[in-house]
Amino acid sequence: MLFQRVKSLDQILETAEKKSLKRQLGPIQLTLLGVGAIIGTGIFVLTAEAGQKAGPAMMVAFVIAAVVCALAALAYSELAAMVPVSGSAYTYTYGVLGESLAWVVGWALVLEYAVAAGAVGVGWSGYMNGLLKSAGMALPEFLRTGPYDGGAFNLLAFLIVLVVTVLLVIGTSKSAKVNAVLVMIKVAALTAFIIIALPAAKDPNFHPFLPTGWGSPLGGIGVLGAAASIFFAFVGFDAVSTAAEETTNPNRNIPIGLIGSLVVCTIFYMLVGYAAVGSVGSTPMFAADGSALSPGTPEMAAACQAAAAKGMQMLVCSKEPLAFVLRQLGFQTMGNLIGLAAALALPSVVLMMIYGQTRIFFTMSRDGLLPPILAKVHPTFNTPHVVTILTGIAVSLFAAMFPVGILADISNSGTLFAFMMVAVGVMILRVKQPNRPRPFKTPLVWIVCPLAIIGCLLLFLNLSMYTVGLFFGWAIIGLVVYYLYGYRRSHLANGTSHSD
Ligand code: ALA
Repeated sequence: MLFQRVKSLDQILETAEKKSLKRQLGPIQLTLLGVGAIIGTGIFVLTAEAGQKAGPAMMVAFVIAAVVCALAALAYSELAAMVPVSGSAYTYTYGVLGESLAWVVGWALVLEYAVAAGAVGVGWSGYMNGLLKSAGMALPEFLRTGPYDGGAFNLLAFLIVLVVTVLLVIGTSKSAKVNAVLVMIKVAALTAFIIIALPAAKDPNFHPFLPTGWGSPLGGIGVLGAAASIFFAFVGFDAVSTAAEETTNPNRNIPIGLIGSLVVCTIFYMLVGYAAVGSVGSTPMFAADGSALSPGTPEMAAACQAAAAKGMQMLVCSKEPLAFVLRQLGFQTMGNLIGLAAALALPSVVLMMIYGQTRIFFTMSRDGLLPPILAKVHPTFNTPHVVTILTGIAVSLFAAMFPVGILADISNSGTLFAFMMVAVGVMILRVKQPNRPRPFKTPLVWIVCPLAIIGCLLLFLNLSMYTVGLFFGWAIIGLVVYYLYGYRRSHLANGTSHSD
């Protein structure tokens, strides 16, 4: 199946040219777009999860995840600059490894984007529930979280995804100005957090530094388990490449946007992680047998409820950890303001993720691998409304049912797989098409790409067994769908690439 039905890169560029969007985004807007997609639930919410998995060593987990992401971004940039069209890793794989693997990558990107949108929706609900509680208007307990997390139905997560879906259907995604304002709010909130919490960092809070060890393969715990989860905090930089068709001078600006946004976010995350752990500590919760509990499980929810009943306030149990830290430090109002910033800004990440998902489905449908109805554009709103509504309904349901950490891990499995494929693709293209112009070349490609693959694989294998199993189950379903549908209808196979 490898190297069969490889779509020529010139053909990809030509197809995109036909339906091209207006080129209006420059390097600054692109970096803002990236930062807008990157900063979200990862840093605002999963800090607690990383603390549970690794204790104070979550700092190390942040570094590992950032390094893997940086390596992947260097590979990503080469392909994004060479093939500046929508569809990201799916499109690149189509042009290098052929249709069936491209399909698997596109299918995996559903995990990356759609499931991530659900995770961010759940993260948002954590902060919103905290704000409502502070205002004395708390929802009943069973409507605050899903069934695996001590509740029954996460009402706010469900609703926010539906609201974002409606906004996308009526064409809200175009507002670069709103994105810029929200990025400012997020950056201001994280800066305020750092300024308040950093001076409160105390040495004893970093001991013991490694309470859960490094972790074991498919264990989903320890420093590597935390890195595999917190990787989610960096995901989204590739959303920059999905805007390639709307970018001026994409060959220069896409790499600037990708790497620039990653660098900005990494600096913030390091400081936030250090300040959170240093100021209030992050002692993990252990089971009776001495093993660390996995976040997002009923056992963890029960342990947290028991701790709360005894009046113990734990960072690792918080659904709004950054607000929690500030409140613990006595800054009640600032805690609420951070909560407000998260509540205002996280919906834009949900929006970016569902937007990215619909554009990938759109590209796959344009290639004939998914039903043409998914590429249908609304006559008044000019948006792909069918695919947006279907995606939104699915995302809202799993946001209502699953805990944030589980969704983030599942999303990471798809992203890590896609990144591995991109790094493989870069190397294959260097050999097969050495003379094709490369506006951005991955430096030390024969070191960076293998390291990116090893890094992604390392994180992938440190997700829980449950997550990795789900990933392969999803991939198998995808292959069945492909052979039943896309294989025969593919525009490339039928020579109808340009007819749509
Ligand atoms: N990086 C994005 C977030 O943390 C997905 O919400």
